[in-house]
Formats: sequence, C-alpha cells, structure tokens
Amino acid sequence: MLWNHGYYAESGYTYGFYPETMPLRLHWAALVQGHITPKQCFRYLDAGCGQGLNLIIAAASHPDSEFVGIDFLPEHIAHARHLAQACGLTNVTFIEGDFIELAANPAQLGEFDFAVCHGISTWVAPAVQTALFQLIGKVLKPGGTFYNSYNTLPGWLGAIPFQHLILLEQRSKSGAAAVKAAQASMAQLQENKAGLFAAQPSLTARLQQTSKQNPNYLVQEYNNQDWKPVFVTEMMDRMSAVKLNYLGSATLADAFDSLLPTGIAKLLGDQQSPALREQMRDYATYQSFRRDLYVKGRRVSINPQTERPKKDGHYETRTGGFASEGNFDTYSAVLDAVAGEPQGITLGELQKRLGKQTEFKPLVMTTSLLVNGSWLFTNQTVEEQGREVARTVNQGLANAAAAGAPYQFAASPVTGGACGMSEIDWALLSAHLKGLPKNEWPRYVSEQLGALNRTMMKEGKPVKDSDSLAKLLSKSVSNFQNKKLKVHFLG
Ligand SMILES: C[S@@+](CC[C@H](N)C(=O)[O-])C[C@H]1O[C@@H](n2cnc3c(N)ncnc32)[C@H](O)[C@@H]1O
Repeated sequence: MLWNHGYYAESGYTYGFYPETMPLRLHWAALVQGHITPKQCFRYLDAGCGQGLNLIIAAASHPDSEFVGIDFLPEHIAHARHLAQACGLTNVTFIEGDFIELAANPAQLGEFDFAVCHGISTWVAPAVQTALFQLIGKVLKPGGTFYNSYNTLPGWLGAIPFQHLILLEQRSKSGAAAVKAAQASMAQLQENKAGLFAAQPSLTARLQQTSKQNPNYLVQEYNNQDWKPVFVTEMMDRMSAVKLNYLGSATLADAFDSLLPTGIAKLLGDQQSPALREQMRDYATYQSFRRDLYVKGRRVSINPQTERPKKDGHYETRTGGFASEGNFDTYSAVLDAVAGEPQGITLGELQKRLGKQTEFKPLVMTTSLLVNGSWLFTNQTVEEQGREVARTVNQGLANAAAAGAPYQFAASPVTGGACGMSEIDWALLSAHLKGLPKNEWPRYVSEQLGALNRTMMKEGKPVKDSDSLAKLLSKSVSNFQNKKLKVHFLG
C-alpha cells in the first residue's frame, strides 16, 4: 500500500476559508443545540488542514488559544508552516502526519476542546476513515465538540457515475486530464439523450458546475479511489462507535425546521429519533454535503434501579439543611422523554423532545438534580477495551464476594460509576461472566448461596419451599437481566 492510501496526492488543494469551522461560529451553532463550548483558552484540532490558511485565520482571532493542524501532504504542511511564520503566529502548530499512524499513538497530541474535519472523511479509504475517527474520539475531551463535513446521500446519487468515469479515465491519464475526458464523454452522452440523464436530472446541474470549478478542487473532489458519499445515519453510527453523539448542524439554516415547507417540518417534528429526523431532512432537501456537529459523551439515561416517585410523590433535593421540591410534572416529563432511550440521550436532543418552551439552563438544573437524586444517571459509550477492563475488575470482585467479601458495588462502565449488588446479584454476574446458559443460573445461584450458608429471604423471612424458591430465583434472574446486566454490564 502506498503512503497516500488511494488519496489523490499529485497536487495541492485550494486556499479556502470555511466560516462554519471558526470557533465562534461553532460556539453559536452548538449553543443553538443547547451545548456550551469554551470561547477562550481552548485547544482546537484541524485534522486534514490542507494548505492551512483556514486554521491560520482561526488562530489569528484567538491568540489565547492553541491550534494544531495535521495533514499528510508535505507541500500542504510546508505552505502552512511558512505562512504561519510569515504572519508571526505563535499559537498554531502544523504536523505532517498520517491519520493511521497518529491514531496508534494519539496521546502525543494532547486533548482538544474542538476538532474539525472539513472535507476529509468521505474521500479517504475505509481504513483511513476508521483511524481518523478513532483519533478524534481519543483526543477530544469529554464534552468536546467535533465538526465533520462530508459528502452525503441522496444528493450525490446522480453524480456517482461521473465520478466512476473519472477513476476509469485516471487509469491512463493524469488527474486533471481524467476529469476533462470524463466531462467530454458525459457531455456527449447528454447531447445524445442518454438514459442516465433522464433518470438522474441532477447530473446536468452538477456537470455544469464542474465546468466553472477550480481544477485543484476538482481533482481532490473526484479523483480519489475511495470517494464515497454516505447517508447521515451511517455517519452517526460510525461516530457513536467512538463515543461521539450527534448534536446538530453547523449550517445554521439547517437548525430550524420551520424554514421548511409545513408538511416536511411536521414530518421531521414527528420523528422520535435524531437519526430518522436527519435522514428525512436529507431526503427532503436532496442534501449532498453535511456539516455536522458531534459531542463526546454528555448523555443522561434512566436509572432503572431507582423507583421514580408516583403521582403524589416528591422529587426532593437537599442542600445543607434546606429541602426543596422539584415540580412533579416537569421532572416526570424529563424522565418520560429519557425512558425510551436505552443508549441515553444528549441534553440538546432532550430539549428538542420536550418542545420549544424548554429552556436550556433550567433543563441543565432539572437533569442535574435528577442525577443527584439517582433517578437519572450519566451514560457513555464503552469500547471493547473498556468492557474488557470492567469484566476483569468485576470478575475479581465477584470471586471475592463468592468467598464472603461484603462488597455491595460492581464497576459499571456505562454509567462511569457503580451498580448496587446483592449476594444474589454477585452470583448471577459470576454466572454471566462464566458464560453459563441462562437456564443454569438459578441452580448456580443456589449453590453459591449454599456455599456461603445463606438462605434466600422474602419480606424478611427465609423462603424454604421449593416452589416459592424457584419463583423468587426466577424473579431475581429477570430483575438482574433487565435492570442491571443490560444497563450496567452491557450483557
Ligand atoms: C479535500 S482536502 C481538505 C483540506 C482542508 N480541510 C480544506 O478544506 O481546505 C483533504 C485533506 O486531507 C488530507 N489527507 C488525506 N488523507 C490523509 C491521511 N491519511 N492523513 C492525513 N491527512 C490526509 C489531504 O492531504 C488533504 O489536505
């Protein structure tokens, strides 16, 4: 495999400026979605910074903050470093590096409040894209903001055959000549009323556009072996694999559904998940390029172990000797909105679910107090390495509990905390970790409790007859599975 992994590296890119990537614009767009980003003393990463002009402009407006640009094309980095030095900037560094290499050792870069990838992720090979996202997922601080702009479907459907033709022409021609040859063939097909143009009317406008575009842009847009627009929901899935949750669009006009025709705005408003809503939006607008914002972490989810107050109950909070009661309807509405989301929900999404009248600051207070009262808990995506560590730790604790240790808490990677455990729960967790089939769990629990000389209890009394014991064991198994295993141990 060559160093460029199929990326078109025979000439440099353009010297563009992208207002949506500027820290204050990111701050604004995130704020619209109910997420607050720092305005001062932050660290900002531009992964795939190209010629560097955009990053230099950002750095110039924020001298108290630190900017880092990465690109693997030596000409880009040489240009960027030279320009930064000529401008006397000291808060920007350019690193010549490949995402695949950097993802293997991300700690060298430190942590960032912002990361931006403008026009990279759908132009590179799958292995490069995976490495890029792993890198971002690692170097972004919890609560940090990621801007990802990329080619999306359905807007590129019509032009896919044109891009394919360029790659075929490139087998025997240089990049720019391949574009020209494909344009000429396409024009001839169009003149002769080829079926492709009738079926894909958007292709005509796309081709007209290419005749006016900068040749340096065209080769980097179309001549990459792995150019592949993706659906927004595919991108969301890839992001969630590196702990990044969809926040909203950095294109401010896309943040307001009321700008769309009423029927479409209603369809979007009726969608229960951001995935469906954004996918429908793209179908409605025939979207071809998205500028998406993601946040690392910052979800809340229902705590299934904590009973919520019934209709005439109280959501009480104490600070020192002062008690205060949360509004029952407001608190219940938040819990209802979160309840259908096993993976948790971001505060911005929760705010949308609750409707227009919900303001962000009071929502932060309500959710914070619900977390404080254990009705909600924090929730994070856990990668395989984190699961493995938690499994090992919990196996150690379960072994100790089986030998009589009085531990009442197991590590819960999802909540970043602990899960309350009874002796029965420890035995069940141990059965799960050993990989025993579910039908053997009740027998295993009885043996474990027997070894500790324990008797199963119900309402303070020992349970002796075998029918009641079997019922109690089966209830314990289903409680453990639904309220603990699925939620805390990803079982
Ligand atoms: C379309 S350009 C966008 C550049 C810049 N963000 C802009 O919009 O002006 C994509 C950039 O990604 C860089 N790139 C592609 N693959 C890379 C890799 N594996 N590691 C680092 N940079 C890479 C290219 O050199 C190129 O500068």
